[in-house]
Amino acid sequence: MGWKEVYASKVTTMEEAVKNVKSGDVVVIAHAVGEPVSLVDKMVEYVSSNNLHDVEIKQLVAMGHGLYGQPGMEKYFKVNPCFLGGPTRDVVNSGRGDFTPCFFYQVPDLFTKVHPTDILLTTVSTPDENGYCSFGVSCDYTKPVAEDPHTKVIAVVNPNMPRVLGDNFIHVRDIDVIVEGDDPVPELGIAKIGDVEKSIGEKVASLINDGDCLQLGIGSIPDAVLTFLDGKKDLGIHSEMVSDGVADLYEKGVITCKAKNFNRGKMIITFLMGTKKLYDFANDNPIISMMPVNYVNNPIIIGQNDNMVSINAALQVDLMGQVCAEAMGMKQFSGIGGQVDFIRGAAFSKGGRAILAFPATAKKGTISKIVPFLTEGSPVTTSRCDVDYVVTEYGIAKLKGRTLRDRARQLIGIAAPQFRDDLAVEFEKRFAEKY
Ligand code: COA
Repeated sequence: MGWKEVYASKVTTMEEAVKNVKSGDVVVIAHAVGEPVSLVDKMVEYVSSNNLHDVEIKQLVAMGHGLYGQPGMEKYFKVNPCFLGGPTRDVVNSGRGDFTPCFFYQVPDLFTKVHPTDILLTTVSTPDENGYCSFGVSCDYTKPVAEDPHTKVIAVVNPNMPRVLGDNFIHVRDIDVIVEGDDPVPELGIAKIGDVEKSIGEKVASLINDGDCLQLGIGSIPDAVLTFLDGKKDLGIHSEMVSDGVADLYEKGVITCKAKNFNRGKMIITFLMGTKKLYDFANDNPIISMMPVNYVNNPIIIGQNDNMVSINAALQVDLMGQVCAEAMGMKQFSGIGGQVDFIRGAAFSKGGRAILAFPATAKKGTISKIVPFLTEGSPVTTSRCDVDYVVTEYGIAKLKGRTLRDRARQLIGIAAPQFRDDLAVEFEKRFAEKY
């Protein structure tokens, strides 16, 4: 049979497709904006109305409605993500779900070798003339899970999903069940950049040189950094994700990837998250090479890029330089994601630098993010041995290779002024020396 006949033989309705799910199955949902939102909703309706039980839901960033986590759904579902977002945060923190900490680059192994996936729910682009569909905006763990022989792949073929190039394709013969759909690809609005973000962005940009290879995390700080890079030359990208700002800098000729010593001429990315403008930019664009996360985020691969600069955010840093970027005490807020993958990758890189940048305060200036001790129960995301640069709107602290005393001094110097006296008291207690 030619691929077109194979395709036609696999097409079914959403109602029929979700009948493949059984009690006790592990169901992985494609990451972030690759989530097939209507299919996931239909699966929840099927599982709950047929009284199935112990259907385990795994994902990183959830972008859909998260109906499997609503109160009462725990009779049917075990919600077990590795990263929290709007639809899953309350599920885990209220005890209706659980959480598995995992470096992003190890998630493909977690979802295939450690706990194999029974069902993958994903979105793909329409097939090309050879019968290949692109995973589009989300290659990450989605492609490795789809390739595991144990996994049944249920894919929504969606003309709105861009065809993004790279190691990012599946042939229709390798999809088990096909549903046709046309949900819009979820969009993430552009983060607001205020004075604080601008000040941080300017400081971070001062640490970036022409020809550097960048990783940019999620949120307003990386976006602010991008707006200060207009004058730089030949920047490269090897990044877990990119958002709209990267497309803008490519169009301005600032990002060329020409100075990269590794994967020269390509932006190496594992997922995209932004507006339709970004998805249109990524469609069939040879500058982009989407690769699975066990490649993109593998610290040893990242480290092969010279002058690798990682830029990520954090929620709290203690005076030793221990960083929490994923929880507030016992309350899980997000996850480790790729933060440590890239900080360690930058450490392997010749000329590499790892930057953590964030506003010095939270909650309208009432809480300092630089603290004597992490809040009780907070996990350490980035250890004090991994931490390198910390940047706030008040300055830049270089911690790697520095003593505890020097770290504490520098961190107090970039804390918000209204918190410095209290931090200084802690310094004097700890080091028996005047701040
Ligand atoms: N104590 C209490 N609340 C705090 C806080 C603190 N120390 N720091 C931040 N908050 C609050 C903020 O006020 C905000 O609450 P609000 O929405 O009610 O205003 C909320 O927590 C989010 O903080 P914000 O600083 O806006 O977060 P962000 O969207 O910029 O994301 C991280 C920052 C650290 C959570 C995010 O980057 C992350 O999850 N990082 C880990 C993964 C990672 O780095 N991956 C890298 C590649 S993508």
